[in-house]
Amino acid sequence: MEITRFLMGNGLFSSLFLLLTPLVFVVVFFFTKKYSRSAKNLPPGPPPWPIIGNLHQIGESPQVSMAIFAQQHGPLISLHLGTQLLVVASSPEAAAGILKTQDRFLSSRAIPNAYDHAYSSFYFIWSTNCGEHWKSLRTLCRNDMFSVKALQAQSRLRQEKLDQMLGFLRGKKNQVVNIGDVVFTTMFNTMSQVIFAKDFLGYGDEHGTVGGLKWKLSTLLKYVTRPNISDFYPIFRRFDLQGLRKENFKNTQEVYSFWEGMVEERRAKMKSSKMVIEEEEEKLFLDRTDTTSSTIEWTMAELLKNKEAMSKVRQELKYNTNSNITHEFEFSKLPYLNACIKETLRLHPPAPFLIPRRAVETCEVMNYTIPQNTQIFINVWAIARDPRVWEDPLSYKPERFLGLNLDFKGQDFEYIPFGAGRRMCPGLPSGIKSVQSILASLIHEFDWVLPNDEDPSKLDMKEKFGMNNGRDSPNIVMEITHFLMGNGLFSSLFLLLTPLVVVVFFIIKKYSGSAKNLPPGPPPWPIIGNIHQIGESPQVSMAMFAQQYGPLISLHLGTQLLVVASSPEAAIGILKSHDHLLSCRSIPDAIDHGLAPFFFVWSTDCGQHWKSLRTLSRNEMFSVKALQAQSGLRHKKVDQMLGFLHGKKGQVVNIGDLVFTTTFNTLSNVFFGKDFLDFGDEHGIAGGLKEKLNTLLAYGVRPNISDFFPIFKRWDLQGLRKRHMKGMREVFSIWEHLIDERRAKYSSSMTVVEDKDKSFLDRLLESGFTNDQINICAIDLFIAGTDTTSSTVEWAMAELLKNKEAMNKLQEELKHKSDSNMITESHLSKFPYLNACIKETLRLHPPAPLLIPRHASETCEVMNYTIPQNTKIFVNVWTIGRDPKIWEDPLSFKPERFLGSSLDFKGQDFEFIPFGAGRRMCPGTQYGIKSVQSILASLIHQFDWVLPNDDDPTKLDMNEKFGVTLQREKPLQLIVKDSK
Ligand code: HEM
Repeated sequence: MEITRFLMGNGLFSSLFLLLTPLVFVVVFFFTKKYSRSAKNLPPGPPPWPIIGNLHQIGESPQVSMAIFAQQHGPLISLHLGTQLLVVASSPEAAAGILKTQDRFLSSRAIPNAYDHAYSSFYFIWSTNCGEHWKSLRTLCRNDMFSVKALQAQSRLRQEKLDQMLGFLRGKKNQVVNIGDVVFTTMFNTMSQVIFAKDFLGYGDEHGTVGGLKWKLSTLLKYVTRPNISDFYPIFRRFDLQGLRKENFKNTQEVYSFWEGMVEERRAKMKSSKMVIEEEEEKLFLDRTDTTSSTIEWTMAELLKNKEAMSKVRQELKYNTNSNITHEFEFSKLPYLNACIKETLRLHPPAPFLIPRRAVETCEVMNYTIPQNTQIFINVWAIARDPRVWEDPLSYKPERFLGLNLDFKGQDFEYIPFGAGRRMCPGLPSGIKSVQSILASLIHEFDWVLPNDEDPSKLDMKEKFGMNNGRDSPNIVMEITHFLMGNGLFSSLFLLLTPLVVVVFFIIKKYSGSAKNLPPGPPPWPIIGNIHQIGESPQVSMAMFAQQYGPLISLHLGTQLLVVASSPEAAIGILKSHDHLLSCRSIPDAIDHGLAPFFFVWSTDCGQHWKSLRTLSRNEMFSVKALQAQSGLRHKKVDQMLGFLHGKKGQVVNIGDLVFTTTFNTLSNVFFGKDFLDFGDEHGIAGGLKEKLNTLLAYGVRPNISDFFPIFKRWDLQGLRKRHMKGMREVFSIWEHLIDERRAKYSSSMTVVEDKDKSFLDRLLESGFTNDQINICAIDLFIAGTDTTSSTVEWAMAELLKNKEAMNKLQEELKHKSDSNMITESHLSKFPYLNACIKETLRLHPPAPLLIPRHASETCEVMNYTIPQNTKIFVNVWTIGRDPKIWEDPLSFKPERFLGSSLDFKGQDFEFIPFGAGRRMCPGTQYGIKSVQSILASLIHQFDWVLPNDDDPTKLDMNEKFGVTLQREKPLQLIVKDSK
């Protein structure tokens, strides 16, 4: 999705951009250029915008956006937040590269500018380097607070605090309790007793007994994630434009005033300075209490939702304790409780990115350069939800940890909720002890239900991003909007823009529906909606949104409402239950010109013209009889392909081009009775036909202002409609003479074409179609039928090359079950493994990942949400095919899963709909499958295939490139060899 090109295109938006440009250049560019590093060999990542870099792509759940980027760009990515370079690791290998191999260079902290005030040199957690001060604090804590001895000594105190908590809860029976608050108070008081021998918080008091201490502490925490211009543009650090440093300093002093007297008393007894004691304690309070209480809150929520797990914990507690009221559990005898805690820490790591690190020196990780001063995140959240690392990663399954050696002690990099390396959380043993004892007591002593008899299986599990990944904790949201509206340079730019924005907003507001009860989705930005969040692989971004918001989501692309279905149930709601209201096509504005009423694939409604095309093609092209009649032709075209390959032995062949030529010529013979392409000629014999078709295809996905803001439709601001029309006419000129010749023959009434020799063109002429109607039908069928088929064969070949065992099985099947050297269509039914390989390819790489967009002709309800009239609708077949809730080990190529299974792509099984379903389902399904079968079987049966330069096939790049069809990013080039 070329957002930049869209914004730079013609029209209103570009006018805004042009207006901004001089300002941007003069005011910001010259200041920031000095600081923006042009380091080489950085990890890949989404292209940064000028000045703001990737800031606009981070969104409210950075861990989700960064997981999306990692899917697209790999496990180590780089982003530019303003001029600050950020590197994010999202796989166990990348995490080990940072936290183990390069730990000594990368264990500095990136301290938020708001914390970088007079006290900063005394920090522990935020200590920018691992110098003397940090070392002495770490030793002190290890010995006096978190050592086995210290923990044993604190056990009575923990028990006392636990009893207080339980006492409070007993008095609250049948009333609503905020679990997070209660646990926070317990933890906080335990800590304050360890340090000051004093409680600071009371259970009944919302803000804490000591005049809002709790509230003030959570305010301090907010500064970590509060977007700050000085963090993104270090050039502005000294000005503290948003005043955050000043505010934070003031708040810190206020917090200190709570315990200053006590510190003074004890200062004489300790060697450390006053500031050291205070800073250390404040941070420990924040870190320990918030992480622990969030873990307990999440575990309670998960156990409430997962009834079976809850009753297993209860059973275990019951059988391992002697009395009803004792809470002195032996935690080593509670494996299931421990597994639940581990599973919670996997799914809801309190610090989803750990605590940001900074590179003290330039170094290399995974062969990429990490320049000095780069900020470093480890996306622990993404690693823990990676289906390549975890089976069925989104489900809460404590059982996965039972009998497993995997631990959070910083050795197993697929599971590092406490971090690893020298900056690993020192409070791990104490934190886990607190979680264990509080959780066990809460579950053992009480039953818990949701208020108003709410169904626990529907408990809202949405996360809010913050320093600690809390459940909907209201204070710690990533306030990007706040940042943009804050003080400083950005707000000046915004103010300059405002009058213009208001004018545009009022014009388009008229057009934006204010429909109620829409499916949930990420909050749209003013004017642009969610355009900036779609990225280059929309099917991936939409899958991530579905994880957050559910199987039916809504997005705003400008003023165009888009609804995306990402589960079999949501697909049924659209393609089956409401097929009659949702089967119009949403046609891109670039192709919505004078010829649009003649489209087949893009026919906006299911009216007379579409019906007659559907009937004609079903009878004359796709019926069993027609398919049988075409079998000789298919055989001939495959033979020509094999002949070409025999002449190419030992040379590199582009598989996509090869299959495209074969399928195109087969279809052009069915339609016109003639070949159009030549195997040897890259661009096709008929004057670059292939290239021209590809260009036309690209218009379907080209970002177009008129699609996002239909108000601009009439002006065709980017000139795309005009260009598409011109391109179509050029293609028509290649074959129009054939139509004219044929028509002339018919009108001379001299020629009688025998029924068996009639092409599809004859049928269309007989039915009275005009030239333009025939031209459009031909283009539609070529586009729908060739790229889809050839991309399926290309992906299948790539998967088979990568999965040697599957390739061997297929070769064996073809060898033993075909009675001759040549594969013919009569053999095809004897190849169950071939068919399973094709199905598995279509599951993992559906050629139309979002189907072809539909459009609501009337307002209707799907899954209890409203789909307003004119909504555009996608069905994310790509996500459904990779959903771990539906498919075991979904990312692996395992054709075996289809053997003996009745699951088919005929539009009845909604977990597998690569050809769609309902009345707009692909009419060419059997035609396409027959072509894929015969081409793939012949390629594998007749030849051996290897990668050029002896490249290792297990390392074959499988990246996808989004377009109208889902192609391989790198075309598959293989050397063809004689079959052994
Ligand atoms: C592996 C091969 C193919 C795949 C995966 C495929 C997939 C699809 C999909 C997903 C749709 C949209 C369905 C929907 O919106 O629910 C579609 C529509 C269509 N396909 Fe295919 N297709 C393939 C081959 C073919 C072939 C070979 C032809 C013709 C020669 C063809 C002709 C069409 C047409 C005409 C439509 C539009 C139907 C309508 O809107 O009424 N397809 N295809």
